[in-house]
Amino acid sequence: MRKKITIPEIIAMKGTERISCITAYDHAFARFAQQSGIDLILVGDSLGMVFQGKETTLEVTCEQMIYHSRIVANAVSIPVVIADLPFLSSRISIENLVENSLRLITEGRAHGVKIEGASDFILKGINHLTSSGVPVMGHLGLTPQSYHQLGGFKKQGLNSSDAEVMLNNAKSLEKSGVFSIVLESIPESLGELITNSVSIPTIGIGAGAGCDGQVLVINDLLGMDERFSPSFVKKYANLHEIITTALSKYNSEVKNGAFPTKK
Ligand code: KIV
Repeated sequence: MRKKITIPEIIAMKGTERISCITAYDHAFARFAQQSGIDLILVGDSLGMVFQGKETTLEVTCEQMIYHSRIVANAVSIPVVIADLPFLSSRISIENLVENSLRLITEGRAHGVKIEGASDFILKGINHLTSSGVPVMGHLGLTPQSYHQLGGFKKQGLNSSDAEVMLNNAKSLEKSGVFSIVLESIPESLGELITNSVSIPTIGIGAGAGCDGQVLVINDLLGMDERFSPSFVKKYANLHEIITTALSKYNSEVKNGAFPTKK
């Protein structure tokens, strides 16, 4: 059995081994991730969309993140578990951002937190956390908590000035002590440039092959929602078909009396 992976080991993987990361929100899928050798599990606020069926991640609360993070952290002993700091918990004040991050670690049992963006406000909060021993993962590019400001789920960093701002934000995050940065939905060339410009690992989602690692939402990778097929997702299974076929068969057999069989 693999030994427990630590955050310093994730940092040391840059340039030597690609980092595998997947989201998980419950006990069963966290165990699948661990048994498959995944390095890092992200309890993403994407659960607002794939678990709760909402259109954005904006309504996810700290209590919900703590609940899911605790379930995932209790299910595994090997991968690093990082929990997302949701929208409502990171926008009111720095004190509130810090306090909610600490709750994800203590009550949610996460090993670190992921925080979107690199505004002065966010950087101050991150500085406070990292200088007091809390591992923080940054998140740049398409930051879903800025859904309304960005005008939807749109690819970012498409012109040279936006790309330059993102590169500088990545360097500021590095300075503030984050241990890695998620790069979401940006051109491959920018993903590679940022990866080569910082000493910490980058984890890409729709950011090309030049990143130090990759993350996907588990429901997308397993093909659980037939309505959702963005270009950057590779569906490694078609669970939508497998599950609906099994449930339809069960439904028919209950209706026609084939299940349960008489002993
Ligand atoms: O919430 C999430 O799952 C994420 C990943 C898509 C990176 O932020």
